[in-house]
Formats: sequence, structure tokens, C-alpha cells
Amino acid sequence: MKTIREKLSRRVKELSDSVTLKINAKTKLLESQGKEIINLSAGQPDFDTPEIVKIKAKDAIDKGYTKYTPVSGIKPLKMAVTKRYREKYGIELSDDSVLITSGAKQAIFNIVETLSGPGDEVIIPSPYWLSYPEIVKLSFAKPVFVDTSKTKFLLTPENLKRAITEKTKLLILNSPCNPTGIVYPSSLLEEIISIIKERNIFCISDEIYDELIYNNKKQKTMLSLVNSPLDEIIVVNGVSKAFSMTGWRLGYAIASQPIIKEASKIQAHTTSCASSISQYAALSALEDAEPFIKMMRREFDERRKLVIKLFSTIEGISFPEPEGAFYLFFNINKFYNQRIKTSVEMAEYLLENWNVAVVPGAAFGDDRYLRLSYTLPIKNLEEGIRRIKNGLLDVRG
Ligand SMILES: Cc1ncc(COP(=O)(O)O)c(C=O)c1O
Repeated sequence: MKTIREKLSRRVKELSDSVTLKINAKTKLLESQGKEIINLSAGQPDFDTPEIVKIKAKDAIDKGYTKYTPVSGIKPLKMAVTKRYREKYGIELSDDSVLITSGAKQAIFNIVETLSGPGDEVIIPSPYWLSYPEIVKLSFAKPVFVDTSKTKFLLTPENLKRAITEKTKLLILNSPCNPTGIVYPSSLLEEIISIIKERNIFCISDEIYDELIYNNKKQKTMLSLVNSPLDEIIVVNGVSKAFSMTGWRLGYAIASQPIIKEASKIQAHTTSCASSISQYAALSALEDAEPFIKMMRREFDERRKLVIKLFSTIEGISFPEPEGAFYLFFNINKFYNQRIKTSVEMAEYLLENWNVAVVPGAAFGDDRYLRLSYTLPIKNLEEGIRRIKNGLLDVRG
């Protein structure tokens, strides 16, 4: 008799266990035992969803907008998305190049399913956002990682060219990057686009953090860097991070019409459409909540500067200076010893002994690092970093 585990599909058997789940479960357990954990592991802003968005969402319920919507999303929201790209980036898009999804994650899933399958390779610069490899594996394609840690956490044209084979279908690029906070310069994005065109592959540009860029640095959307925008480039974005709406599950993909058409079929047979109420909430976010973004960006920038300053005083730690998103990815390799040899062991040690939660770098493909989110008020951040510093110094002895 086969066990249930043996009878599961090949797809799920090949999915990785979540490294973060283990840390989250332990954090919850310690909290339930009365420990005061400083949790620096969150992948979401600590701000509440803007008030106006909540009001408009309640309005939508009262007006009875509670039924299935068109598969690709309600027209006013698609128009608000194209208006955003016109105003922010100066590019003209038609509504039918937009697919509204249940979070940016579903947009990535639908597009990867649309573009790649068994026998295909998908290039993922590493460190990477942890769902990319699993989404690629779900399509039975093969993730191919390109280490960027020796090239300032940027995918270089040379390394990209070296990774492309006959089987390459797709590159997944993420800027600003989770976990490093690195923002790609436009000149590099242009070089990457020319390789994509020359080698006839696709690129998903995950721009979910494009409202959270600091130092007055500007990033262009990849769409604005190509002449005939939508051929090879698919942009993914959403309201989760920019408007602190992670639980509303609302994202979108922008791509050429044939891709949107096929990706919509996947959506039609999986979720049918994004939540109607969340679509109206997102419409309000895009139309009414610009001041919220400015407030949040200012606050994150202040915290970012503090985190950089405090980490600069910890001898033995190195990190790329984040210019976007809300993470710091720091190298703790020099603190490994006989007892603590991996990022999971280090994260567990910091949690159990110093009551501070961070995410092991192994989750993002680099075991020499930890990821911290500066999604807590300054006072808690200072205390959390003090604990990390003491914990690391104690390990070194
Ligand atoms: C780089 C990146 N892409 C996509 C997502 C998914 O966003 P959503 O919550 O809208 O699905 C996340 C969320 O953590 C992310 O960090």
C-alpha cells in the first residue's frame, strides 16, 4: 500500500518546504509563551490600509459590487492602471494589455504558466524572492540561478549571456529587489533588454516595490525602455506594498495582448477573477491615496538610514546598501562557528536566545545572509538591532 505522501502529485512533491514557515511558527510559539519578540521578518508594511480605500471598499459592498467581474478585471481599474503608467512613466498602454489578478504573485504564476513548461529554462538572478523558483517548478520548467553576490547584486550582461541556452524561455528580474533592496540602473536595464531581444526570450519585470525607492533615485519601468513596449517584456505590479494592502490580494500584469489573452484563460479556470471588492479598493488606492505613498516612503527612508547607520557599527557584517523596498540583506558569514553553520541555525539562535526574528538567507538562495525588514517603528527597530548585534558578538565570543 502506498502512503498518502507517496500518492501525492509530482508537482507538490518537488516544491520546497518554506524556510520562513519554520521561523514564523517558532516566533508564534515563543510569543504564546509570553516572550516579547521583536519581529523583523515581515514581508509587508506595518501601516494600516489608507482610510479612503476602506471607505470605498465598504461602498462597493453597499452598492452590490459583490459578483464575478470580467476575468481580466473591471474596466475602471484597468483604466486607472494605464493612467498610472501614463502619469508616472509617460507611456501609453491600452486597457487590454492589463490583467488584474489576485495579488502580484498570481500575476507571476499566470504569466510563467503561459510562457514556460517542461524542458524550458527560466533564469532567476540570485538572491531572489523565494516564490520565483517554486512558481517555475510548478510549470515543470527548470529554474536556472545566476549568482549576483559578486557583482554588486546586479545581473550583469555577461552573466546573463552566459546563462542563456537554447532552452531559455524567460528571465525574472526584480527591481527594487526583495531581499537586497538593490535598484537596477536604467542603463543596465537597457543592456538587459537588448540581450533579451537579441536572444528572443521573455522577461518578467517584477516592479512591485516601484513606489519605494529612496535617495531621490528614479527607476524607470522596463516598459518605458523599449521601443515597441510589450513584445518581450511583462511587467508585474500591484497595490500590496505601495498602499499597504497585502491582505486585499490585488495585483496586475501588463503584457502584449496575446500573452494577456492566454494568461486570462488560466485565471478564468482557477480564480475566475480577482475579488470584486478588492478591485474597487485598488481603484480607490490608485485614484485617491497618493499622499499615503509619500508618507510611507518618507517614514521608510528614515528607518532605512537608521538601519544602515546601526549596522555599519557591527564589525564583521557587510551588506549592500538598500535603495528600495524595506529590507536589509546582511552577510553573517564571519559569525559562523562549529555550532552555527547555516542561516537557519543563526536565525533560530537569534530568535531563541535574543528574542529577535529575521529571515534566513537560505530562503532567498544565499545561506551566508539574513534578511531584516524595517517595518517596525524606530524604537522597536533600534531594540531589534541591538539584540542582533549582541547576539552576533556573543557568538563570536
Ligand atoms: C518581489 C515580490 N514580488 C511579488 C510579491 C507578491 O506580492 P502580492 O502580495 O501582491 O502577491 C512579493 C511579496 O512579498 C514580493 O516581495
